This record gives sequence, structure tokens and C-alpha cells, in this order.
Amino acid sequence: MTLYASLIGLLVGLAARASAANNTAVVENYQPQLEARLFPEFTKFWESHRTSWQSQSAISRLQTDRYARLQNASSCHPLPYCLVSAYAISQSDQDTIATALKASNASGALISAWPQYVNGTNHILRVYGDGDSPLYPEIDSISYTANSSEYELFLGTLNNFTAMSQPPLPPPLDAFAFASSLLSANDRLEAIAYPDLWTSPTLNGPALRRSKHLNWERYQYAAILIPGEGPEIYGVPISPLGKLRSRIAASFFAKPNTAPFLIPSGGNVHPNLTTYTEALEMSKWLQGQLNVKVEDIAIEPYARHTTTNLRNGARVLQRLGAPKGKKVLIVTDVSQRDNIMPTVTAAVIETGEHINENDEMVDQIQNLFGETPKAISLFSNS
Ligand SMILES: *[C@@H]1O[C@H](CO)[C@@H](O)[C@H](O)[C@H]1NC(C)=O
Ligand SMILES: *[C@@H]1O[C@H](CO)[C@@H](O)[C@H](O)[C@H]1NC(C)=O
Ligand SMILES: *[C@@H]1O[C@H](CO)[C@@H](O)[C@H](O)[C@H]1NC(C)=O
Ligand SMILES: *[C@@H]1O[C@H](CO)[C@@H](O)[C@H](O)[C@H]1NC(C)=O
Ligand SMILES: *[C@@H]1O[C@H](CO)[C@@H](O)[C@H](O)[C@H]1NC(C)=O
Ligand SMILES: *[C@@H]1O[C@H](CO)[C@@H](O)[C@H](O)[C@H]1NC(C)=O
Ligand SMILES: *[C@@H]1O[C@H](CO)[C@@H](O)[C@H](O)[C@H]1NC(C)=O
Repeated sequence: MTLYASLIGLLVGLAARASAANNTAVVENYQPQLEARLFPEFTKFWESHRTSWQSQSAISRLQTDRYARLQNASSCHPLPYCLVSAYAISQSDQDTIATALKASNASGALISAWPQYVNGTNHILRVYGDGDSPLYPEIDSISYTANSSEYELFLGTLNNFTAMSQPPLPPPLDAFAFASSLLSANDRLEAIAYPDLWTSPTLNGPALRRSKHLNWERYQYAAILIPGEGPEIYGVPISPLGKLRSRIAASFFAKPNTAPFLIPSGGNVHPNLTTYTEALEMSKWLQGQLNVKVEDIAIEPYARHTTTNLRNGARVLQRLGAPKGKKVLIVTDVSQRDNIMPTVTAAVIETGEHINENDEMVDQIQNLFGETPKAISLFSNS
């Protein structure tokens, strides 16, 4: 009797929730987080323009056109290409939205980031929808055969579920939402891993607290950056070079007044879809084997290549409040050292960072590379 009553209660509860949402597509928790991480300037804009955006006639027209395109794609050929292209932000969509952003007084940061957001979205759609080869295929490829009947069924069902929902999402959120679903389908949610990075007592909370009362002047370098080197064997948490770079970095760190922080850097990279995070494993090694205290470590757990080790390292420095222009010591080995200097330009191109002399982040990046090599040469004859 009690069981029966509570079942009825449950069913009534579910029905109430479904009708409150009026059958709009149910959003998974990772989606808003991921979209805020990938498109931060748009997310900020959206908070204050949620209602005014769709009242612009150019946007409501585009919404209607794209909605027709997506519905039409429910029986298109050849899959998956036709479906993925329906979601892509075309040049004309991009221009319409750019004009509407300007008309809405969007921030300069959003206006200049918008072409990058379009590129990024279309790139996700091509790689994780259509199975195109990414820049680093061995670690970043789609997990499934894009044109297999299973993946096509998944894409078709996802499209029917999202494109048939009423009211449809306004552009560009329809494309962002499809792209984030594809990242999730391929278990590529590392960008929102460690949401408590800067508060957790086992992650960067203690370092951030310490940075607030730090006399940076005392130190020769703002930090010692340790780019990770992932293992190639499944189940191995940290590679031989990962351990060794940590040890060398700890030996520099032990010299008085060298640097206030160690920044181990690297995400879940090698091997493909590993569950280990390079930065975290190096931090554990530094603490467990090299007696470095947690408050002396600020991990950077998102980088996927030397380029992003450097860019994201600069972001960590900014967060810690490091003085602009203070040098960083990069501890690595001769192989990566020889890659780092030629990577300067690549870092800027590949990550799409704008070169703008007023941009603090670029100052930090330039500072990382400087005119004099910051990558110290260890174990090299040169
Ligand atoms: C949901 O439907 C109700 C009643 O039909 C309506 O009053 C409400 O505005 C709708 N909500 C949304 C978000 O469309
Ligand atoms: C609908 O799809 C068909 C075939 O896939 C295509 O030829 C046509 O241009 C599409 N129409 C729209 C409005 O996208
Ligand atoms: C944009 O800013 C201008 C000048 O400050 C103002 O006149 C206009 O109403 C604003 N438009 C919107 C859509 O907020
Ligand atoms: C977008 O990507 C194209 C190549 O796919 C490139 O030529 C262009 O510079 C990129 N634009 C931005 C803003 O990143
Ligand atoms: C990466 O791992 C996934 C899941 O195990 C697998 O389907 C895919 O083929 C792998 N990709 C590469 C390039 O090894
Ligand atoms: C799937 O794509 C591959 C390469 O892109 C192609 O060789 C293969 O014939 C395609 N399979 C089907 C069923 O279309
Ligand atoms: C999607 O909807 C269309 C139109 O109702 C239907 O023909 C098609 O079979 C559906 N596709 C999937 C994968 O459910």
C-alpha cells in the first residue's frame, strides 16, 4: 500500500516536472559548464541578453532558417556529413551573428573571440561528428567509426531529439549544444575536470591562499613550470620522464629564493583517453617522493601539448597574481627544450590567442619565452 502510494507520488512528480519544462530538451549537467568553459565571453553575454537576443529580427530569422535546416537533416544523405553540416555555423550564419552581436553592444572581447568560437565549434563538429582527423590524431580522434550504422543512429537520434524540441534553441546555442553533446559522446569532457581546482585543499587552494601574502620580489622566478610527459602504457600513472622532470624541478625549487611555486602542467593526454592527469600525478610525486608541500604547488591540469603547457601556465601565473614580466623557469629535458623555442609562434597560432600588446596573457607568454632562453638546458652538451 505504502509502496503503491509512493510509486504514484513518483509518477505524479515526474509528470509535473515534464510539463513544467514543456517538453524542451532536457539538458545534462555538464552542458552549461562545458559551454561556459569553451565560450566564456558568449556565456557572459547571454546572462544579460537572454531575452533581447531573440527579439532581433535577424536572429529570429536565422533561428527559423537553422531550425528548418536541422529538421530537414533528419532524413538527409550521406550521413554523417549532411547532418553535421546542418549544425555547422556557415559563413553567412557567422556574419549575421557578428552583426547582431555588435548591434547588442557585445563586449570587444566577445566580438574578437566570435570567429574563434565559430572555428572551434565547426572543428568539434567535423572531428567528433564527421570523424575528420584532428591535429593530433593519436590522442584526439573520435572514438567511434563516424559512418558506422551505430554512430549514425546515435547522431540521427540526437538530432531528432534536439532539433524537434520546442522551442528550438536560438543560434549559436543550437550549434554549441550539439558540439558539447558530441564531446560528451566521445568522453572528451576534460575541459571541465577539476571544477574545485582553486578551492580544494588537495589541489590549488593552499597555493592560491599563500599567493595572497607573498613577497614575489624575494624570488628570482615567478614559478618553475614542469611540462608533463605522459606515459604510453595504459595503467601507468606517470612516465619515467615525468618523474625525472619533477625531481629536477624539485632540486631547483630547494635552492633558496629560486621560485615560490612549482607548476606541473598537463592534462589527460597519453595514452589516448587515459584516466590519469599528468599534472596531478606529478604533483603527487612531488609531494610523496620529493617532500614538496601542497601549498607550494599549483597544478595546471588541462594542457594537451607544449603549446598549451605554456599558454595555460601563463593563466595559472595570472591567477596566482604573479607580477607581469617576472620570468619563469621551465624545467624539462633536452628533447622538449629543442621543441620549445620553435613552438613560440605555434603556441599563438594553435591556441588562437590574439596577439595584442595590451593583453596581459600575451605579456606573460612572451615573458615565458623572452629573448633569452628560459628553457634551461639539462643533460645537453650544447
Ligand atoms: C509552458 O506551458 C505553459 C502552459 O501551456 C505556459 O504558460 C508556459 O509559458 C510555458 N513555458 C515555456 C517555458 O514555454
Ligand atoms: C533539405 O534536404 C535536401 C536533401 O538532403 C536538400 O536538397 C535541401 O536543400 C534541404 N533543404 C533545406 C531547406 O535545407
Ligand atoms: C548600445 O549602446 C548605445 C550607446 O551607448 C545605445 O544607444 C543603444 O541603445 C545600445 N543598444 C543596445 C541594444 O543595448
Ligand atoms: C579559422 O580556421 C581557418 C582554417 O580552418 C583559419 O584559416 C582561420 O584563420 C581561423 N580563424 C580564426 C579566427 O581562428
Ligand atoms: C582511442 O580510444 C578509443 C576508445 O578506446 C578508441 O575507440 C579509439 O580508436 C582510440 N583512438 C586511437 C587513435 O587510438
Ligand atoms: C566510411 O568512411 C570510410 C573512410 O572515410 C570509407 O572508406 C568507407 O567506405 C565508409 N563506409 C561507408 C559504409 O560509407
Ligand atoms: C528522425 O526523424 C525522421 C522524421 O520523423 C525519421 O524519418 C527518422 O527515422 C528519424 N531518425 C532516427 C534516427 O530516429
